[in-house]
Amino acid sequence: MRTTLASDQDLDYRIFVKRIAEKTGVDLGCYKRKQMERRLRSLARQYGADSLREFYARLEADPEALEQFRRRMTINVSELLRNPDKFDEPQKAILPPLLSGTRRLRVWSAGCSYGAEAYSVAMLALEMSLGKDRISILGTDIDQEMLARAREGLFSQIDMKNVSPTRRRRFFLAEEGRYRARPEIRQLVSFRHHDLLRDDFARGFHLILCRNVVIYFTDEAKDRLYREFFESLTSGGVLFIGGTERIFGAEAIGFEHLSVFFYRKPASQRVGVMTNA
Ligand SMILES: C[S@@+](CC[C@H](N)C(=O)[O-])C[C@H]1O[C@@H](n2cnc3c(N)ncnc32)[C@H](O)[C@@H]1O
Repeated sequence: MRTTLASDQDLDYRIFVKRIAEKTGVDLGCYKRKQMERRLRSLARQYGADSLREFYARLEADPEALEQFRRRMTINVSELLRNPDKFDEPQKAILPPLLSGTRRLRVWSAGCSYGAEAYSVAMLALEMSLGKDRISILGTDIDQEMLARAREGLFSQIDMKNVSPTRRRRFFLAEEGRYRARPEIRQLVSFRHHDLLRDDFARGFHLILCRNVVIYFTDEAKDRLYREFFESLTSGGVLFIGGTERIFGAEAIGFEHLSVFFYRKPASQRVGVMTNA
């Protein structure tokens, strides 16, 4: 009896995941099952549904509820200079050597939410006197609404809590209790849609930031992702991950562990590629 119940629930979950992927393009199957299933079943109960099958029927009948659901599944929390001390290292130790090896630095904030991370890098860049001829910062996310916000460059008081008054004055304009990024900082950033679990990865980035995005990804999805990032980095390029994250098996992928949140693709990789060519 228990087995039947378990397998009914299993089937219920798997069918739901499959249908949501077909309907919204969000592959819940790449997220850790235990947490995801718990969240889904609790949400289903809030909608008065006894099973995920019933929950799906409700979402399918109500596009607004479906959109709300999709947004809840991809948590968008962010802020400027999140973990502020971690942003000293890019400015002091990561960006300068990368800059010396290239004419124009390409930075990617993967899973950028409403853009705070991309604008944070832009602030550091401007402080290093880097204009758009020397750096471009791309922010990508799965959530179109967050991307629209990112393009606006408008931040709340809470988003600004790690931004010093000097930086606030230099990079933002106060606007009805909020802060709008000045044109000088906006011209360094651009935003576009990208699903880290499904889409192809662009190449040639010197710095990739992917922070607080993979927490719900399965180990398999994470491993695939970090391998893709490795390929997307230039030789000597650096991956910057979140405060609670680690890349298990980083060496097997080819990364050097630079310091707690920073992993580098060895510069010698270039030699290997040339030898093989
Ligand atoms: C918690 S926010 C992190 C924002 C920022 N990186 C930071 O650390 O402040 C996580 C973001 O990852 C995005 N995300 C989740 N799954 C994704 C996927 N498969 N592809 C791209 N972005 C995804 C969410 O939409 C959300 O905006």
